[in-house]
Amino acid sequence: MSAGSVLLEVDGLTVHHGQLCAVREVSLSVRVGETYAIIGANGAGKSTLLRTIAGLHRATSGRVVLDGADLTHARPDARLAAGIALVPEGRRLFPSLTVEENLQVGAYRARKGPFDVARVYELFDWMVSRRRQRASQLSGGEQQAVAIGRALVANPRVLLLDELSLGLAPVVVQRIYALLPELTASGVTVLLVEQDVGQATRVATHVQCLLEGSTTLMGVPGDLTRTQIEAAYFGVSHDEGAER
Ligand SMILES: Nc1ncnc2c1ncn2[C@@H]1O[C@H](COP(=O)(O)OP(=O)(O)OP(=O)(O)O)[C@@H](O)[C@H]1O
Ligand SMILES: [Mg+2]
Repeated sequence: MSAGSVLLEVDGLTVHHGQLCAVREVSLSVRVGETYAIIGANGAGKSTLLRTIAGLHRATSGRVVLDGADLTHARPDARLAAGIALVPEGRRLFPSLTVEENLQVGAYRARKGPFDVARVYELFDWMVSRRRQRASQLSGGEQQAVAIGRALVANPRVLLLDELSLGLAPVVVQRIYALLPELTASGVTVLLVEQDVGQATRVATHVQCLLEGSTTLMGVPGDLTRTQIEAAYFGVSHDEGAER
């Protein structure tokens, strides 16, 4: 696939948790090589969207299509084999497994591609000396790196990143986000979720804002004003806010 063609297409996706509609008619197109960011406040439906793309929640309606193949009804492992890997919110490593064992878990149903455990060790050189340690002994930032490594060894075409910065010190967040250009250069397309709007607009080629499950804004960061983004994020315009 050439750069610029649509890799991941989400079309009118609606997802419920019981009675609650968490994602409402959300559509997006992610092109090869992009870094596409979903922003939104707590409870906006960001994780539900990513998890539904990864096959962990069932869609009520709408479609998830990867490179023309409809995966809406595919199981999570089939989506992984097709090239969709998720780094979940809160990392979710196996705490009692070692760093290396956690990475090896990701290689289950791996596609062919540039990433394997050795390549992850090149990316994060500190991991080599820590590879026999349990994941629970690592700092939050280190665990996040292992969670990314675990997703990478599956050689995803599209990497879903759910709030990498959650609970991490700013300097650690910077270091982790600094990795993204290297990943996209290796052919990985990124769809990320981030509550930190500044962070999202710095790294992303495209941003889309969710509010209570619906899309309130989408565009290229450079074209969007802070006022537009705030209104889309909080659901009030500055003027309305000033009147109260
Ligand atoms: N497994 C679940 N069962 C029931 N309700 C859920 C479940 N997961 C999420 N929800 C609800 O769905 C809505 C969207 O949640 P979601 O986790 O997708 O939001 P989010 O944008 O990722 O929020 P955050 O920034 O806090 O991670 C919220 O109202 C949440 O309480
Ligand atoms: Mg979330």
